[in-house]
Amino acid sequence: MEPVTQAKKSSNLVLILDYGSQYTHLITRRIRSLSIFSLCINGTSSLSSITELNPRVIILSGGPHSVHSEGAPCFPSGFIEYVEEKGIHVLGICYGLQLLVQKLGGVVKIGEKHEYGRMEIEVEKNEGLFGNKGIGEKQLVWMSHGDEAVKLPEGFEVVGRSNQGAVAAVENRERRFYGLQYHPEVTHSVEGMETLRHFLFDICGLTAGWNMEDVLEEEIKVIKAMVGPEDHVICALSGGVDSTVAATVVHKAIGDRLHCVFVDNGLLRYKERERVMATFESDLHLPVTCVDATEEFLSKLKGVTEPEMKRKIIGKEFINIFDIFAHDLEKKVGKKPTYLVQGTLYPDVIESCPPPGSGRTHSHTIKSHHNVGGLPKDMKLKLIEPLKLLFKDEVRAMGKIMNIPVAFLRRHPFPGPGLAVRIPGDVTAGNSLDILRQVDEIFIQSIKDAGIYDEIWQAFAVFLPVKTVGVQGDQRTHSHAVALRAVTSQDGMTADWYYFDFKFLDDVSRKICNSVRGVNRVLLDITSKPPSTIEWE
Ligand code: XMP
Repeated sequence: MEPVTQAKKSSNLVLILDYGSQYTHLITRRIRSLSIFSLCINGTSSLSSITELNPRVIILSGGPHSVHSEGAPCFPSGFIEYVEEKGIHVLGICYGLQLLVQKLGGVVKIGEKHEYGRMEIEVEKNEGLFGNKGIGEKQLVWMSHGDEAVKLPEGFEVVGRSNQGAVAAVENRERRFYGLQYHPEVTHSVEGMETLRHFLFDICGLTAGWNMEDVLEEEIKVIKAMVGPEDHVICALSGGVDSTVAATVVHKAIGDRLHCVFVDNGLLRYKERERVMATFESDLHLPVTCVDATEEFLSKLKGVTEPEMKRKIIGKEFINIFDIFAHDLEKKVGKKPTYLVQGTLYPDVIESCPPPGSGRTHSHTIKSHHNVGGLPKDMKLKLIEPLKLLFKDEVRAMGKIMNIPVAFLRRHPFPGPGLAVRIPGDVTAGNSLDILRQVDEIFIQSIKDAGIYDEIWQAFAVFLPVKTVGVQGDQRTHSHAVALRAVTSQDGMTADWYYFDFKFLDDVSRKICNSVRGVNRVLLDITSKPPSTIEWE
C-alpha cells in the first residue's frame, strides 16, 4: 500500500522531519499513543513530498549536527512560506529549534561539545507551550547541550529557561512557531508528554481519532480497491507475528484469492510446524499450503560450517521453493499471481533510510538477514505491505482486533534461518537438531511456567558442537554442552541478557540434563548486544 494514502486523507497528521536524532522515532510513537496519526520522513525531503502529505502540524526533530556545519541538513526552501500560508503549527526540538531560529533571522552560537543531560528548567511565561503551567514552576528535562540560541528572531520570546539561564522553550504564537531545547518525548523529561499533549490538543487544536479499528478498516478498503477482481495474491508465512497479521488483513479484503505458503525447512523448533499450521487453519482459516522442504534444505547444508554461507544457502532455497509454489499456483488458477504480501513494519522502512548528513547510504551489514522469504525469480510481483506504517505493538493490536490468539501475537521473534544459526558448525552433523529442539522446548516451557515469557524479548537454546566429560548415574559421559540465551530488548538492535533467578536456572539445568540424551552440561549466555549479537551466528 502507498504509505501516503492514509496520510493524505488525515487532516490530523503530525509530520516529523527527521534530522537524525536517536529519539526521532520515539516522537512518532508518543504522538500515536495520544491517538493522533504521525509519520516521520527525512528532514531534507522536497517541499512537494511535505505538501502532498497535507500535515496539520510539523515537528522538526533533533539531530547530531550544528546548524553551522557544512552540509547541515535543513528543510527545503519555500518551507516557511508554505507553513505560514497554510497556518501549520511548527515545533522545533533541539536542532529543530536552532534551525528555526537561524532561518528566521536569529543567532545560534556554536557550543563546545554536544551531549545530553538532565537539567532543571523553570517556566518564565505561562503562555503557549507552558500556558497550562504557573510562572516559576520547575521541571526536570533531558536537555541537549550543544549550540545555543543567543539571539531570537523578531517576534519570538523565551517562555522557559534552565537554572543556568539557557534558553529551554521559545515561541512566536502569532506565526505559530514553537521550539524546545530539550527532548519532551523521553521519559527523563518528566512533564514532556504533558507539554506535547498540551501543544497538540490545546495549541494546535488536533483531536484524537487515530485508532486501530479505523486503520484496519482503511487498510482493507485500500487493498480491495487495489487488487483487481481476477487478481491472485501470494504470501510466504514464517509463523511469526508480522507475516501472519499481514496475511490476515489481506485475507479479510480479498478472501481465498490469497494463497499462503508455509515452508518447513527442517530447521524449525519443536512441533513448530504443527503448532503454527493449527493456528492458521483453526483460528484464522487462512488458505495455507504447507511445504515440507526438509530434505532440500538439509541436503544443501550438509558439511557447511561458515555462518554467512549457511544463511545464503537457506535464503536461496526459500526463493526456489517459493518459485515452485508460485508456478504451481499459476497452473492451478490459470493466471500468474499479481501481488506479493510482505509483513514489512514501519521500523524496517525508516531504518533503511540512514540519518541525513550521516554520509551513509546504507547501514553496515553485520549479518545478511531478514525477510528471507524472497521474490520468485521471473514473476514481476507488486507488493502489498499492509503494516508498512505500523510499529510492532500496533501490529499486535491489529492482530488482536482480528482475533489472532494473544499467545500467538506475543511469540518471541524466530529468525528465518531458524535453528541453523543456533548450531555453530554443520547443522546436519549427528542429531544436533533433534537435541536442540528438546532442550529449547524445555527452556521455553519453563519460562512460560514461571510467568516470565512476556518480560523476555527473545529466548532460545543453542547447541554447542563440543563434547565435555560428565558423570551421570555413576557412568562417565562424553556428551554435548548447550547454552541458554534470553535477552531483553526494545527492537533487537541492542539487547541485555535477562537476569533469571538462580532457582529457575538450577531447575532448568537439572531438567535438561535429566531428560535430554546427549547433553551433560548447561551454560548461560551472559553477553549483551553489543558486543555479541542475539543469535549465535
Ligand atoms: P542479531 O542476531 O543480529 O538478531 O542480534 C537481531 C534480531 O533479528 C533476528 N534475526 C533474524 N530474523 N531473519 C530474520 O527474520 C534472519 O536471518 C535473522 N537473523 C537474526 C534475531 O532472531 C533477533 O531477533
